[in-house]
Amino acid sequence: ARLVVLVSGSGTNLQALLDACADPSYGASVVAVGADRDGIEGLARAERAGVPTFVHRLADHPDRAAWDAALTASVASHEPDLVVCAGFMKLVGRDFLDRFGGRVLNTHPALSPSFPGMHGPADALAYGVKVTGCTLFVVDDGVDTGPIVAQAAVEVHDDDTVDSLHERIKTAERAMLVENVGRMAREGFTITDRKVRFGR
Ligand code: GRF
Repeated sequence: ARLVVLVSGSGTNLQALLDACADPSYGASVVAVGADRDGIEGLARAERAGVPTFVHRLADHPDRAAWDAALTASVASHEPDLVVCAGFMKLVGRDFLDRFGGRVLNTHPALSPSFPGMHGPADALAYGVKVTGCTLFVVDDGVDTGPIVAQAAVEVHDDDTVDSLHERIKTAERAMLVENVGRMAREGFTITDRKVRFGR
């Protein structure tokens, strides 16, 4: 399966996918990496792996719709089977979902439906939960609301900071992403009444 991965930061989730794809039996390859900003480690990781990259900055476009159309065109040019948002800090828009809806995955560092949005680990810590985690879901037109593919639980330690908690979540997140993207790539998946099932 052809994966296009979208990033906005350090790209450790991307790196986990790049490493997994090196094994031909994994059943997927990262054909391109897109970002919403320049100068991030995620793009450097792609370049080191010899994977084509593209960047679409919101500021370079007159409005969100134009940005979304440009992003959609770049992703489409790589003919993905799956698009994986791995730490991508933008909400994809109408054009994007019309084109790729149902095969866009996103990983979120909280146990949905708890703590949606940009600060999952911080919100979980502030709330005082004892268990948080990460969620892999199929993107719909909401914010972190799509049908759930997989989740992994992560304990919160009494001395956790946002960073220490997020790092522990990211360890679980990378494993969850690699395992489930591989299964979806090899086995296919269907979604019925918000239930995601592997198989064609
Ligand atoms: C991940 O925890 C992702 O869920 C969140 O930001 C982090 C990105 O990490 N949105 P990386 O860029 O994959 O290292």
